[in-house]
Parts: sequence; structure tokens; C-alpha cells
Amino acid sequence: MAPSALICETQPWKDLKAHVDDIKKTHLRELMSDTERCQSMMIEFDGMLLDYSRQRATSDTLNKLKNLAEAAHLKEKINKMFNGERINSTEDRSVLHVALRAPRDSVINSDGKNVVPDVWQVLDKIKDFSERIRSGAWIGATGKALTNVIAVGIGGSFLGPLFVHTALQTDSEASEFAKGRQLRFLANVDPVDVARNITGLDPETTLVVVVSKTFTTAETMLNARTIREWISAALGPEAVAKHMVAVSTNLTLVEKFGIDPNNAFAFWDWVGGRYSVCSAVGVLPLSLQYGFAVVEKFLKGASSIDQHFHSAPIEKNLPVLLGLLSVWNVSFLGYPARAILPYTQALEKFAPHIQQVSMESNGKGVSIDGVPLPFEAGEIDFGEPGTNGQHSFYQLIHQGRVIPCDFIGVVKSQQPVYLKGEVVSNHDELMSNFFAQPDALAYGKTPEQLLKENVPHHLVTHKTFSGDRPSVSLLLPSLNAYNIGQVLLAIYEHRVAVEGFVWGINSFDQWGVELGKSLATQVRKQLNASRKKAEPVEGFNFSTTALLTRYLEASTDISKEDCTVLPKM
Ligand code: F6P
Repeated sequence: MAPSALICETQPWKDLKAHVDDIKKTHLRELMSDTERCQSMMIEFDGMLLDYSRQRATSDTLNKLKNLAEAAHLKEKINKMFNGERINSTEDRSVLHVALRAPRDSVINSDGKNVVPDVWQVLDKIKDFSERIRSGAWIGATGKALTNVIAVGIGGSFLGPLFVHTALQTDSEASEFAKGRQLRFLANVDPVDVARNITGLDPETTLVVVVSKTFTTAETMLNARTIREWISAALGPEAVAKHMVAVSTNLTLVEKFGIDPNNAFAFWDWVGGRYSVCSAVGVLPLSLQYGFAVVEKFLKGASSIDQHFHSAPIEKNLPVLLGLLSVWNVSFLGYPARAILPYTQALEKFAPHIQQVSMESNGKGVSIDGVPLPFEAGEIDFGEPGTNGQHSFYQLIHQGRVIPCDFIGVVKSQQPVYLKGEVVSNHDELMSNFFAQPDALAYGKTPEQLLKENVPHHLVTHKTFSGDRPSVSLLLPSLNAYNIGQVLLAIYEHRVAVEGFVWGINSFDQWGVELGKSLATQVRKQLNASRKKAEPVEGFNFSTTALLTRYLEASTDISKEDCTVLPKM
């Protein structure tokens, strides 16, 4: 395939299109009865088991997907990523988040320079700083230890760290190290989020970490100024130096903001925002909360998958297989969504993180060369921990639309509970659902089965389940820092990259978020002019003018004086 040709013009793509009819003739019930097939669709890596036998796929499908991978030059693209080539061509950047978790002695070049020593320089700085904060060697302006952290950031500067924090919170080792400490996240520019974050916190014992790759994101900067005001109102402006630090690629703006550059933790433009949790973006707040040693295990887990992704052959390569199967589901079977269903509450923030990793990466309408795509790329990701989701949207998954599901289960609960006399432990109860749901989706229930069960005739169609609904099951040995980095973070990051590489899009830019931002700038100007100078609403369409006018007229009680107002909670 010529580098600029579209993947859908290749023979392997056409072969897969033609293959859809063969698959549609076979119900998953039949596919599941072929034990040899099922055996071949289970892979183990580093203690984790992936079972993809409930995909609507045969060995023939997999061979055809391999051909597609070859036509898309998948292996070459993966190598280019690891070699630091500027594969994010629209931003002229390399894509090297794998360097963030590479062992200290590894060599990963960007523009001919090994970036690993720079990565470790920042990691060492974080280790030192977090130890000083945690031990009380670094104290606040009034001499108190800083036991609470508010991380101010949004998007990739928030979702990954929040997911990892939520997952570690109930891990026995991590929670032991977090005793007496709090980590909160301020993301939304909604002042309600400010109120929620500062409620119950004392500025004297709070450290604020402003996290922004660009240090220009409107929401983050306003929130950072608001929290700076909260600190200086209570402790005086000179307290900011002791109570605020930053994570950014833009150290000039950090200094302009008033944060001592010595207290800034750098990362680099070769780290995409949504791929930045292994940089200081995640490592600093998480080390402050759990200690660097715990976070280092998370990095090691991610690194183990990086090496596997880089070197394992397609048929044993977890992120590659998962990515190819996703392409099969989206582009050939026509399923536009994917449900992420972890059977552990500790992963409640996993789906929101993957939403950004996946949809901001692959929600594109043109190829990497700017050619409009004649097929839909990307998928709609959503999810909720099981069993909560079962009592919410699973109805649609079982009898409504077909949504391929990722079931994620854990062998050993982070917090085992068993009540004497109960049939099973609480974790076994949870896992009974983890094992049952994929089969319910795959097999369904036929009218014949229902009639045999004496279901009244008028309810038979209502109680019929067509089945044939695909899923994958991932079984992890436990949920600790290492697995969180390994299985969840790196596997999903690379799976998304594989999909993008095959579709021939740029998974590392995000131009689609810009238009809304620039229109908000116009509205912001208007609100200022109308509130401060009573200027009429102008330059918008009828609908927006009407809405803005209603909003302004109904909020004239808002103070016109230029004085600071902070939440009163
Ligand atoms: O929403 C767009 C975006 O640029 C994301 O890609 C990014 O993660 C987020 O904003 C935050 O950006 P920054 O870290 O520069 O504040």
C-alpha cells in the first residue's frame, strides 16, 4: 500500500468486507462450541489472561486481520513510534510516552537525543520533592506539614491521574502509604468544583499542583488563579511559593504565573496530554499521596506492556490483537460503540479515562494525510463498573443495540469480605456476574428454550435474547500498582494506537477540540462587555443571542463591582 493510500482501498480490507457474510451465518453459540478455537483465543501474559473467544471471529478472520495489519504497515508504524520519529505529523512531534516508563538504562531517541536521562532527572526530582513533603521536611507558610494536595488540571492533566488514584485508594499497600493524606482533583471550571475541592481543607496544610501541558488551558488557569487567591487570602501572597507547584512543558508561563521554576516539574511536547499520566502529570500527585515507590511499580507495569507491545508477534500481542478486533467490530461488523465494564469499584474512573484516550485519539474524519475518510474511524466508549452497570444500561446491551463489551475481572479482591453462613464471599458474588454476563450476551435465549420453560406465549418475544453479542474478558491476578500500569493503562493506550495505525489516521492530535474553544472566547468577550459596559448581545445567531440575553437578564444581581468572591461553603 502506498503511504498515502486509504486502507479501505486495499485488498485485505475488501477481503474482510466480503468475510462479514461468512461470520454473520455463524452464531456465537456455534463458535463457542469449538473448543479448539476457544483455546486458541486465550492468551496469557505476565499473570493476566485475555479470552477473546466471544468475538465474532474465526481463525480465518484473524488471518485476514493480520493481512490488514500488514497492509497498514502496523509493525513499521509501531517501530517508528518507539524510534521517536515524528509520527504526529500535524503537530510535527514524536510520540514517546513509552519513554516515560522506560528503565533508567534504556535508550530512546528523539531527534537523535536519548530522552530517558531527562525523564529520570524529573522522576528523581519528584521522588525527592514528594519525600520532603511527605516527611514534613518541606513545610507550609505557617510552619505546618502539607498533608493535602489539590491537583488542578483538566482532560489528560486530570483523567489518568484520577483513574490511577481511585484504583490505588483501596489497595492495601498503597492505602497504608496514604494514611493521613488527601488528594483531590479540581478539573471543571464550574465554581461548584472549586467549592467541593476546598471544602474541609485548610490552606495552611494544602499543597496545590497546577497541572497543564500548555499552561494556557482556560479552565485550568482560572481554577489555578482561584486557588491561588484562596491561599493568598488566608496566608498572604508570599505563601504561594510554599503552597503552589506546577507540572508543565511551558516553564516560562509557569514562572509568569508566580510559581518558582525550581518547583516546576517538566515534561515534553512528545508526550500527548491524554498519554501523560506516566509523566510528572500523574507521577507527582500520585507520589505525594502514595510515595514514589508505589508509583514506580505502576511505571514498571506499564513498561512491561510496552516491551511486550514492541516485540511480541501479532498472534500473542495483547494490544495488537485487541486493536485489530476493535477495528473488525467497528469497521466491518458495524458496531460503533464499546462498553468498558470493570468488575471492581476500584476502576470506576477507568472508563472516563479511556473515553479521552480513545475518542480524542481516534475520533477523526480524515486520514493522516488529510484525505476525508470514506469510513467511520473511532468508537464510542462508555462504561461503568459491574454490577452497577447491570442495573443501568445492560438492558440495551442484551436486547437493544449490539455493543462489544470489555469485561475486566480481578482474581483477588483488594478488600475481601466474607460473611459467615453466606453461600459465597462478596467478591465471589461479584465475580459470578463477571462470568455470567459474557455468556448471556453470546448465547442469548431462544423462544424454544422459553416455551420449554412454560413462559406464557405473550411474553416469549419480550423474554427472547438474540445473543451473538461479542465481548472480551480480561482476568487480572489482582489490582495493585503494577497491574494498573500494565494491564489497564498501557494495554488500552496501545490498543487505541493500533486502531489508529490501521485506520491510517493521526491518533495523536486533537484539532476537533479547538472550534468550541474559540467560540467560547467570543462568548466570554460578550459577557464581559454586556456585564461591565451594558453592551447589547451582537454577532451571534438568533438562538445564541436569545439564550445569552435570557442568561444576562436573569442574572443582573451578579455584582458589577470588581471584587473577589470565593465559595461560601
Ligand atoms: O481538551 C483538549 C486538551 O488539549 C486535551 O488534549 C488535554 O489533555 C487538555 O486539553 C488539557 O490540556 P493542558 O494539559 O495543556 O492544560
